[in-house]
Amino acid sequence: MIQITNVIKDYTLASQVYRVLNGITFTIPEGMLAAIVGPSGSGKTTLLNILGGLDSPTAGEYLLNGRDVSHFDPDEWAHERNHTIGFVFQSFQLIPSLSARDNVALPLVYRGVPARIRRIQADEGLERVGLGHRKHHRPAQLSGGQQQRVAIARALVGDPPVLLADEPTGNLDHATGLEILEILRQLSEQGKTVVIVTHSAEVAQVCRQVIEVQDGHIVTNTLEMEQKV
Ligand SMILES: Nc1ncnc2c1ncn2[C@@H]1O[C@H](COP(=O)(O)OP(=O)(O)O)[C@@H](O)[C@H]1O
Ligand SMILES: [Mg+2]
Repeated sequence: MIQITNVIKDYTLASQVYRVLNGITFTIPEGMLAAIVGPSGSGKTTLLNILGGLDSPTAGEYLLNGRDVSHFDPDEWAHERNHTIGFVFQSFQLIPSLSARDNVALPLVYRGVPARIRRIQADEGLERVGLGHRKHHRPAQLSGGQQQRVAIARALVGDPPVLLADEPTGNLDHATGLEILEILRQLSEQGKTVVIVTHSAEVAQVCRQVIEVQDGHIVTNTLEMEQKV
């Protein structure tokens, strides 16, 4: 479960302070399929990066599965991400020179997992996203949708309970985007907490919780609306 309270994020550029997140509070329950929506520049990526510990809040509290991670340093976050969080990006972020299998296995290298077990787990991950027959292909030999599947398999290797995706369908055609969304939806049904930053109303519509951000504020949180009824 993700709980953030009064999160503020300031960036300072040329001694001018810009408040990008201005008191964000929400809860995303375990196993939720959640969307973060809002106009370009509203702070969605900043928020997602804070949820994944890639960026740190200026102020506010963050509880991840009941643990206060607000003051984690980069090393603590690296450790936490290894166990708890998988990331998926709009531009896939695969290593061009590595096969699909080796891309998926890469996080396991950093975790000191032996090669044979890495291979088994990577192949299982590729099967899970329907790419068992493409393990020796390099990214350039795969379609965009297939590359994003590889990236999802990589995010899932080691079985983290939380998956954070920044515009995961943004570089894909409509039909392929919906296929990727369906994979993410199924993962949430299997108990993963999945948070998707998206521009697409169609993607948001499939998500049970939609958090709308504007100018660093939350303007809607459908889960809170549900709970008030
Ligand atoms: N590292 C940074 N330094 C300074 N300003 C930043 C940085 N990252 C993002 N911003 C600013 O914060 C605002 C929100 O950015 P972002 O979170 O990327 O928005 P979104 O993902 O909703 O388009 C933008 O105005 C952007 O210019
Ligand atoms: Mg963004």
